[in-house]
Amino acid sequence: MPITGHVFIATSLDGFIARPDGSLDWLIARDAPDEDHGYATFIAGMECIVMGRGTFDAVRGFPEWPYTLPVLVLSRRLADQPVPDDLQGKVAFANLTPHQAMAHLADQGHRRAYIDGGQIVQSFLRAGLIETLTITTAPVLIGQGRPLFGTIPQDIPLIHEASTSWPSGLVQSRWRIA
Ligand SMILES: NC(=O)c1ccc[n+]([C@@H]2O[C@H](COP(=O)([O-])OP(=O)(O)OC[C@H]3O[C@@H](n4cnc5c(N)ncnc54)[C@H](OP(=O)(O)O)[C@@H]3O)[C@@H](O)[C@H]2O)c1
Repeated sequence: MPITGHVFIATSLDGFIARPDGSLDWLIARDAPDEDHGYATFIAGMECIVMGRGTFDAVRGFPEWPYTLPVLVLSRRLADQPVPDDLQGKVAFANLTPHQAMAHLADQGHRRAYIDGGQIVQSFLRAGLIETLTITTAPVLIGQGRPLFGTIPQDIPLIHEASTSWPSGLVQSRWRIA
């Protein structure tokens, strides 16, 4: 496949990307605006975004739509729904497997896709469609929530590329799928 998937995501130390109700207060409380955690550099290297309906619902709650890249939202529930007027030309809804989604994006000429959302990342990992993982760990245990990782049919070996820590206590590491 001439397109690769890339993850840039934050978790609690115990591996959750959100509380069970989707809230991110534990992460937002540790954000340090004076620190550069590399998001701008990461997104500048991407050509499109694939996200799950769970992440789409969360982002819809932001004051403004934050992305300039085209976004493909994978959802059985939304696939038959019209895209809201304010997101026309920015977002597409589809009910596709990870392989179908990546083939569709490759057909549109995209080569690097930002893959976002816990369930979506898990399904793309299982499908072998992720090339790099950049994970920022927040110094907090939240005990329960929506997990970044889940079951996989076999081990996925990784090559560690870099780690950085900041005064806020955030620790970021980047891995490449071996
Ligand atoms: N900490 C962070 O950096 C970070 C980053 C991103 C998101 N989040 C948070 O994480 C939460 C969302 O993550 P999530 O894991 O709950 O959901 P998600 O991965 O964003 O979305 C999962 C949904 O996507 C749909 N889907 C369609 N095709 C799928 C496929 N092949 N594999 C898996 N799902 C597919 C399903 O919805 P249908 O029922 O519609 O089919 C499924 O329920 C939100 O609270 C968001 O704020 C945190």
